Formats: sequence, C-alpha cells, structure tokens
Amino acid sequence: MLDFDLYSPTRFVFGLDRENEVGKWVRAVGGSRVLIHYGGGSVVRSGLLDRVVRSLNDAGLWSIQLGGVKPNPRDSLVYTGIDLCRRENIDLVLGIGGGSALDSAKAIALGVCYDGDFWDLYSGIAAPQKRLLLGTIVTLPATGSEGSNSSVVLRESEKIKRGLRSDLNRPDFSIINPALTYTLPAWQIACGSADIIAHVFERYFSNTPDVELTDRLCEAVIRTVVEMAGTSLNNPQDCGSRSNLMWASTVAHNGSLGVGRQEDWSSHALEHGIGGMYDTAHGAGLAALTPAWLQRLLPHDPSRVAQLAVRVFDVPMDYNNPQSTAKAGIRKLVHFYQSLGLPTALRELGVNQRDLPELAGKVKLKADGTLGFYYPLTSAEILSLYERAFDWSLDQLD
Ligand code: NZQ
Ligand code: ZN
Repeated sequence: MLDFDLYSPTRFVFGLDRENEVGKWVRAVGGSRVLIHYGGGSVVRSGLLDRVVRSLNDAGLWSIQLGGVKPNPRDSLVYTGIDLCRRENIDLVLGIGGGSALDSAKAIALGVCYDGDFWDLYSGIAAPQKRLLLGTIVTLPATGSEGSNSSVVLRESEKIKRGLRSDLNRPDFSIINPALTYTLPAWQIACGSADIIAHVFERYFSNTPDVELTDRLCEAVIRTVVEMAGTSLNNPQDCGSRSNLMWASTVAHNGSLGVGRQEDWSSHALEHGIGGMYDTAHGAGLAALTPAWLQRLLPHDPSRVAQLAVRVFDVPMDYNNPQSTAKAGIRKLVHFYQSLGLPTALRELGVNQRDLPELAGKVKLKADGTLGFYYPLTSAEILSLYERAFDWSLDQLD
C-alpha cells in the first residue's frame, strides 16, 4: 500500500426529507446569500425546488435561482452563473439535481473566486486557490459529485469535456435523500449504475500490491450496485435499494476506495471525448467502452479481472486458465449492462466510425504521452481500443 492523505471534509446529511434542513446547513457553514443552481426542470416538477426555497426563507436567508443546466454541463451557463454571483454578492452556491447541476455549481463557485477566465482552471493553465461556499442536494446516484474532488464541464465551442480535480471541489455539505430518486427514468438508473461501477474500476485496476482492504471494499460496492440496480428498477419506490445505490455512488467516488493505491482513470478520459462530441449520457458511454477496455487488460494481467469475476460475479476460479475466468466475468458484467438496456459497443451509442481518429486525437495524455496508469495506452492503442469498442460483441471473448 502507498502512503496517502485523504481530505474529505464534506458533511453528508443522509435520509428522508433531509432537504428541509438545507437552510440550517447553509447557516452552519456561514452562508447568507445563496445561488440555487439546477438543471432542466426535474427539481421544479418534483417540488424539491419549492421545499428548498421554503427552508432557506425560514432560515432567514436570501436566495436567487439559476436553472437550465444541461446534461454535460456547458461552459456558457457557468459564465452566466459567475456574473450573477458577482452582481448579487452571492456567498454560497447550492447545486441541486444530478452530477451536471452539481458540477456546474462547483465551476461557478470556483470561477467567481478566480481573477480570469474560469476555463483556465479546466484547461490546466491555472490551479484554483479558493471558492465560494458550496452545498449540494443530489437527486441521481451516479457521479458521486456530492463528495468527489472533481467536476466536469463541456466547452461548447470545441466540443470537449474537461475535468478538474481539486479538493476545493468537495462541497461543504451534501444532502442525500434516496426518495428524491423515485422520479428518475429507468435509463438514468442504468447509466448511473454503469458510472458508479466505472468509478470503482478506475481504482480497482491498480498495480499497487497489498491493497486487500480497498480491493474488498471496491468489490462490495460493485456487488451492491449489481444487486440494487435490478431491485430499484423493478420497484422504483423501494427506499432500501435506492438508499444503498445512493450511498454506493457517494462512496465510489469520494476518494476512500482509492487510498493507498495508484488509480487508473483511462476509461473516463476515453468517455469524456465521446460525451463531448456526441452529447451522450456519461454512464452510457462508459458501458459502451468498458467491455473492450477490460478485454484489453487481459494480456497485461488477467488475474485482477479474474479476481473481480470470482468475488463479484461468483465465477468459479480456473487456476489453470485465469484468462477464461476473467472472460466469464466480463460476460457477466456485459449481461448486467444489457439487462439494464445499456449499450456495450460504441456503435450502439450512435458513434460514427469515421470520427474515431478525431476522438483519439482529442484525448488528454499524461506528460509521457500515454493515458492511464494500470496498463498505459499510447495514442495508437487509444485508437485501436476505440475501434475494438466500436463493434464490440460477446463473440470477441471466444
Ligand atoms: O436536468 P434535469 O431536469 O434535472 O434532469 C436530469 C437530466 O435530464 C435528470 N434527473 C436528475 N435527477 C432526476 C432527474 N430526473 C428525474 N428525477 C430525478 N431525481 O437526469 C438527467 C441526467 O442528469 P445529469 O446530471 O446529467 O446526470 P449525471 O448525474 O449522470 O451527471 C453526469 C455529468 O457528471 C459528470 C459527467 O461527465 C456528466 O457531465 N461527472 C462528474 C463527476 C464528478 N463531478 O465527480 C464524475 C463523473 O465521472 C462524471 O464525469
Ligand atoms: Zn464517471
């Protein structure tokens, strides 16, 4: 295990109706003038926005609203939010909704305190030093943005998505009420489940030895998601499965599963190119890439995929042929994705084969010219992975 620092200062306020306490928590962290930032209207239709406004009013807090965040949140609305916050002297940004609304709120909170174009922070020209106070109410188990050190924004003019990692992205508080997910379409639960699993994979696929505890925690999260996604879809108002999915989503990406181990992060970089170009759902893009991505790991070391197969998918270990165990695990994962209606090839996602070289060219590489850490990809390998993922089918495992 490697040395590590884990700084995860967010207060998580979990449970039914807890959004009614939002005024109290804004006050507790020192906020007084609040920007409520949300998406395309699900929080209006569900009544969440009204409850939030009431709680802030009851706490004697001033607030203003900015809706309209689109999935794959656009830089244009971030600029609008930054101007609004400066004009109205806002001190706390409250993101309510899915990962896109939360990430847009994070970008605004950071951008207000940066004396330049906020995109500098996402393109890596500058590092953030400060942000406004930040709270969230999350309504979708997927990104873990409510506890993560990351936020992702789409640069519309260039059709690229860029993520920013900084502990400043971790909210001061996040309210998690599983019942807020009851209104989610099945498709979003499916995409969210694939995203949670991908967040675990980015940590699980590591060359660091002696990480048994975090291996087991990773496996527990994936097993839980596989079980709970099905229950959740069969009974959308099942509070137990929604509660487990929500907390799995937070735990998968708040840093605790990656401590002491080198993380990979190649599948997310590959997906962000696709989301940027086609405006597709992040989790769907990950599901379409993951089978080809996992298959490519087999020549490097089949034992880690085989371990996943045995411990998560109950595949019997074939000690003479760990490749076959690993492949059986990939098959089970693919069946799980398919049972949720997710794509497992880029073609199914609507990607155009002609765009693959451009997509490969847009991927942000490390200084050494490769992507990821577990089994680093060169530019040529990125293109061949996209090509394999384009037409991927279970036959490729035979
Ligand atoms: O916009 P509204 O009307 O709210 O509708 C949203 C949107 O259409 C809807 N929705 C959310 N909660 C709902 C609901 N509909 C009904 N009932 C509810 N309770 O769901 C749709 C998708 O929302 P979105 O926020 O885009 O989804 P998600 O949470 O999957 O977020 C995806 C974004 O987060 C980024 C992705 O790249 C993508 O841009 N990520 C952020 C990360 C982070 N901050 O740590 C990590 C992730 O890896 C990811 O990259
Ligand atoms: Zn993700």
